[in-house]
Amino acid sequence: MPLKKYEYLSDVWRDGIFDNKVVFCTGGAGSICSAQVRALVHLGANACIIGRNVEKTENAAKDIATARKGAKVLGLGAVDVRKPEVLAAAAERCVKELGSIDFVIAGAAGNFLATIDQISPNALKSVIDIDVLGSYNTLKATLPYLVESAQKYKTDGTTRPKSSTGGRIIFVSATLHYTGTPLQSHVSIAKAGIDAMAVSVAIEQGPKGITSNVIAPGPIQGTEGMDRLSRKEDREKSASLIPSQRLGTVKEISDATIYLFSDTGNYVNGETIVVDGGHWRTVSID
Ligand code: HXC
Repeated sequence: MPLKKYEYLSDVWRDGIFDNKVVFCTGGAGSICSAQVRALVHLGANACIIGRNVEKTENAAKDIATARKGAKVLGLGAVDVRKPEVLAAAAERCVKELGSIDFVIAGAAGNFLATIDQISPNALKSVIDIDVLGSYNTLKATLPYLVESAQKYKTDGTTRPKSSTGGRIIFVSATLHYTGTPLQSHVSIAKAGIDAMAVSVAIEQGPKGITSNVIAPGPIQGTEGMDRLSRKEDREKSASLIPSQRLGTVKEISDATIYLFSDTGNYVNGETIVVDGGHWRTVSID
């Protein structure tokens, strides 16, 4: 069932701020990324979402397209972010069919619960390949288009009548590695790499007009990651330990995304926005 508007987007944003813009998103059929893309599409963007599972990706694309009349959402399945040439072809197809890539969300991730002694070298490699190399491959495949967009929509920071931004990438990370999280060493290692990459991109590519930032979601309700990686009773316990006293929502991740991609994020580069209700800062007293 498609999300209702209030479930993926706050009322504070103005319709049309992403008119004529295109977002390219890996992991776009997942709960968090599909909400991020849906919000951007609602506000005017067209989108290309990438996934490994063909049916899931195509269905998610159709579903996201219902957010706005006339929206174009391309769902490219059978694209493994570990394969640079397949990803490059997907980026090319996106530009051919939708005209540009103005925003990128690198959201594809792999995860499971295991202690470090249970993880084989290949298991660690799989997660690093999906998360770190996959994000790198996403960046490589889209950077020329992002630079083109950044140049087109360069801003001096003054207000214009209509928001017009481009050349922005968000890496979806986590907070697991800030304190150390049991059963999640593989993901912690990978997400630390992603965080470092996002900063490097900001510093090296910033002069070309690129902004590169990280969103680090905390425990978000109703997501596959949450359902698969935690037990219901643990979720209830962890909610009571979060300063905000509840799990987060996908809407709260979408709102951070719009902040970074719209005029509101013009001067934010190389940063991490943690959206976790204060959760990670309480882990040491758990
Ligand atoms: C130990 C495991 C394992 C487990 C797989 N492996 N599951 N080891 N415990 N539970 C090992 C396998 O035995 C194998 O090693 C290696 O990992 C590769 O497994 P494959 O199944 O061949 O790989 P692949 O099909 O590429 O799958 C990758 C995956 C998988 C990461 C292992 O879980 C996956 O693709 N998941 C994608 C969906 C997903 O997880 N999305 C949620 C993201 S949420 P050997 O040595 O046997 O060859 C998220 C949130 C982060 O990331 C923040 C959380 C709060």
